[in-house]
Amino acid sequence: MSECCCHDHDLDYRYQRLDEVIAQYKDMPGALIPVLHQAQLIFGYLSKDVQIRIAEGLGVPLSEVYGVVTFYSFFSLKPQGKYTIGVCLGTACYVKGAAALVEALEENLGIKVGDTTDDGMFTLSITRCLGACGLAPVLTIDEDVYGRLTPEKVPEILERYKNKR
Ligand code: FES
Repeated sequence: MSECCCHDHDLDYRYQRLDEVIAQYKDMPGALIPVLHQAQLIFGYLSKDVQIRIAEGLGVPLSEVYGVVTFYSFFSLKPQGKYTIGVCLGTACYVKGAAALVEALEENLGIKVGDTTDDGMFTLSITRCLGACGLAPVLTIDEDVYGRLTPEKVPEILERYKNKR
């Protein structure tokens, strides 16, 4: 997390944007999901404070906001890394050793699935079948797809992204 002098201003600005979104949707039925979507775009994830602001702004119980956020997998409760790694654990990938890829990634990055590295570079996640079973086992890093992987190839792939800094 950046500690620069602009940090608070940046956060103020994001909350201001959120308030505008809330005002825009407030009187519409089913406002909660579009507001949460916008909030995630603005903040990158949905912190407790952001959920409280939305609950108060829309006049819905916080428990309802939390229920929706945790129900849909596209909402995130934690900050996401610059790059999101998705390891496919669909059947074809699993059979071809995807679990060993997860282990190699966890070891290399020092995090567990669902977490983000301390430097904010990588978030590790699991995906369903990506429709690229012929390339199993497959992982994605944002839009990039890597197939026929072995755990030995993991460090080299990560290095490419680390070097993009
Ligand atoms: S099972 Fe992994 S791409 Fe289909």
